Amino acid sequence: MRRSVIVVEVLLLLFISIIEAPWTVGGSSHCKQISPLEVRPHSVTITEFGAVGDGVTLNTKAFQNAIFYLQSFADKGGAQLFVPAGRWLTGSFELISHLTLLLDKKAVILGSQDSSDWPVDDPLPSYGRGRELPGMRHRSLIHGNNLTDVLITGDNGTIDGQGSVWWNWFRNETLNFTRPHLVELRDSTGVVISNLTFLNSPFWAIHPVYCSQVLVQNVTILAPLDSPNTDGIDPDSCDNVCIEDCYISTGDDLIAIKSGWDEYGISYARPSSRIAIFRVAGETGSGAGLAIGSEMSGGVSNVHAEDLQFFNSKNGIRIKTAPGRGGYIKDIYISNVTMTNVNIAIRISGQYGEHPDEDYDHNALPFVDKITIKDVVGDNISRAGMLEGIEGDTFLNICLSNITLRVNKRRPWNCSYIEGYSSLVSPNTCELLSDSIYPQHTSDCYLLSNHLQSPFVQNRPDYRPG
Ligand SMILES: *[C@@H]1O[C@H](CO)[C@@H](O)[C@H](O)[C@H]1NC(C)=O
Ligand SMILES: *[C@@H]1O[C@H](CO)[C@@H](O)[C@H](O)[C@H]1NC(C)=O
Ligand SMILES: *[C@@H]1O[C@H](CO)[C@@H](O)[C@H](O)[C@H]1NC(C)=O
Ligand SMILES: *[C@@H]1O[C@H](CO)[C@@H](O)[C@H](O)[C@H]1NC(C)=O
Ligand SMILES: *[C@@H]1O[C@H](CO)[C@@H](O)[C@H](O)[C@H]1NC(C)=O
Ligand SMILES: *[C@@H]1O[C@H](CO)[C@@H](O)[C@H](O)[C@H]1NC(C)=O
Ligand SMILES: *[C@@H]1O[C@H](CO)[C@@H](O)[C@H](O)[C@H]1NC(C)=O
Ligand SMILES: *[C@@H]1O[C@H](CO)[C@@H](O)[C@H](O)[C@H]1NC(C)=O
Ligand SMILES: *[C@@H]1O[C@H](CO)[C@@H](O)[C@H](O)[C@H]1NC(C)=O
Ligand SMILES: *[C@@H]1O[C@H](CO)[C@@H](O)[C@H](O)[C@H]1NC(C)=O
Repeated sequence: MRRSVIVVEVLLLLFISIIEAPWTVGGSSHCKQISPLEVRPHSVTITEFGAVGDGVTLNTKAFQNAIFYLQSFADKGGAQLFVPAGRWLTGSFELISHLTLLLDKKAVILGSQDSSDWPVDDPLPSYGRGRELPGMRHRSLIHGNNLTDVLITGDNGTIDGQGSVWWNWFRNETLNFTRPHLVELRDSTGVVISNLTFLNSPFWAIHPVYCSQVLVQNVTILAPLDSPNTDGIDPDSCDNVCIEDCYISTGDDLIAIKSGWDEYGISYARPSSRIAIFRVAGETGSGAGLAIGSEMSGGVSNVHAEDLQFFNSKNGIRIKTAPGRGGYIKDIYISNVTMTNVNIAIRISGQYGEHPDEDYDHNALPFVDKITIKDVVGDNISRAGMLEGIEGDTFLNICLSNITLRVNKRRPWNCSYIEGYSSLVSPNTCELLSDSIYPQHTSDCYLLSNHLQSPFVQNRPDYRPG
């Protein structure tokens, strides 16, 4: 049984590498169905290592000791660390390979409000510095580096960063280093984050960086709408990522696909590609429902997002880039989006700005090509689209199909330095996109050559643990 599953997967992988096309035409899509989790042969409970779930005792050592102990089971099918009902205060701790961190429904992992419980690390090479301050950055609450086969899951248990102190340090400018994430996995393969609620992250909540085969499924991410930079899920220089069935309500982008910053991202050169997003809903104070950028210097391609619902938000779909970024954003397909009470439904910002330092290459222009947005309905929208490319670096093949927005501003579209096509868009698009997609420009548009069927992700990574 297991053997035949493996054979099918190997054949599928061979098939994919032969055709070298991540998408194919078919029905509606899903990331690979997760089979019921194989039980790890070894399991311990955090209380066996002296943890106290009273919300006051600091349990960092208990987490570290438990995980250190479980290291000896990594080559024996891996192990599980169970966190039972209780409020488990902790500072940052490191995961290991072949580990399941399993939370009870009533378990809450609480981030310490003492910044010294969050050690600092060197900046990521693709950023060259911390994202908000030069120099080092605080390590995330749950951190993993160079891992394979890691699960963070639960029966909707909670990981609460208690980020309000960090937001205040940010606001009163007393931070010494860039704020930490709730979860960061770096250089890792086979990561599953599922069935959990994430609250009040100090900074971005879930940050996979330089990872492959990542599944984020059925998670809720919440932070106040006015909390600073509390992005939900930010795949960064990652490939084969699937995000599905998530509800996210935060202060910044719900999902932002990134790949490094200006000269550092260009030289690190690790793109984000094959990112699939299905059934994500939520609201954001100042960000976008789905964003690409603004750090995209390693390139972003093959993004497929479908069945999205955004409401009470500043922006619906947003591409952010700037001269100096270099890199590319291409082959993007976004379909079936409902927006309600959204300020700007579709926004492309070619002059986003924000640079790591003065040494960026002003001539490093991003290449933006083949962006398809289709089947969008919007109600109570202020502006349909602000689509701004870069002078001397026109963004190409921006294709808008079947978009109906109830807009309450008089000039719904404002376009500059872009080229592309549109069909069935109301209110009428700007002049730069007024040529019809169908029939003669279908092949210029990403994945619109057969508009009767919707494409789906063929290459679905093997997330099965063990
Ligand atoms: C999420 O929870 C559901 C219901 O308990 C379970 O069937 C599913 O396997 C879980 N998914 C993961 C990836 O843990
Ligand atoms: C990453 O893990 C591999 C094997 O799992 C090991 O050989 C390598 O030294 C590790 N690298 C780092 C930087 O930890
Ligand atoms: C989502 O999570 C909830 C609570 O953890 C669970 O009851 C439900 O079955 C999960 N759904 C899926 C699709 O995994
Ligand atoms: C998980 O808990 C959150 C926060 O309490 C709640 O909003 C969400 O609906 C729950 N998710 C599921 C699938 O039960
Ligand atoms: C800044 O905010 C922190 C966290 O709320 C607070 O402890 C500190 O006193 C504030 N500092 C200043 C200078 O306002
Ligand atoms: C910043 O550093 C100063 C001096 O070491 C320290 O007193 C302060 O608590 C630090 N602030 C934060 C937010 O960690
Ligand atoms: C569009 O997305 C919604 C969820 O936002 C879903 O209920 C609906 O079935 C999708 N429509 C199609 C045609 O797939
Ligand atoms: C329309 O959306 C705006 C936010 O963009 C909101 O303030 C306003 O209340 C909404 N109007 C209605 C009628 O829902
Ligand atoms: C246009 O989009 C709407 C809403 O997503 C969808 O229900 C409808 O089937 C689409 N029409 C065509 C012609 O694709
Ligand atoms: C379009 O946007 C630009 C800035 O991007 C602004 O200067 C210009 O006034 C806008 N035009 C209209 C008609 O709103």
